[in-house]
Amino acid sequence: MSNRTFTMIKPDATAKGYTGAILDQVIKAGFTVKAMKWTKLTKAQAGEFYEVHKERPFYGELVEFMSSGPIVAAILEKDNAVSDFRKLIGATNPAQAEEGTIRKKFAASVGENAVHGSDSDENAAIEGDFFFSRLERF
Ligand code: RTP
Ligand code: MG
Repeated sequence: MSNRTFTMIKPDATAKGYTGAILDQVIKAGFTVKAMKWTKLTKAQAGEFYEVHKERPFYGELVEFMSSGPIVAAILEKDNAVSDFRKLIGATNPAQAEEGTIRKKFAASVGENAVHGSDSDENAAIEGDFFFSRLERF
């Protein structure tokens, strides 16, 4: 079934100039862009986006990092979008990510790991709504 996921190219990857290469790999893997923007989160917005991790020890670091520079936010469409995208990006820790995955190629560490991918259809919808209005999706 064709459905949607949400992604961000994180500040480490945009700073290193990996945006084009990551988008190229995403599109070649069969994902269609339904919405996209180049933006920067405030600390409050990053904190809200990752609110589920509020009690985790890395939350403060995560919020600092995610608001430290520009990101690319996008809604992507494909069959099995959520699980196929998680496969394409690889494990959270790039040291454990499979060869050829986006995190293996472009991520530096478990904290600065190049891309975000939604973990469920429900969260994909919530996260897409966080960034995009109905007028910004095609
Ligand atoms: P994401 O939500 O960004 O796609 O990453 P994920 O599902 O693979 O991992 P998740 O458990 O949701 O963690 C969210 C982000 O928090 C940072 N993190 N740092 N220092 C640490 O141990 C640690 N653990 C997680 C990462 O940036 C991770 O992507
Ligand atoms: Mg996650």
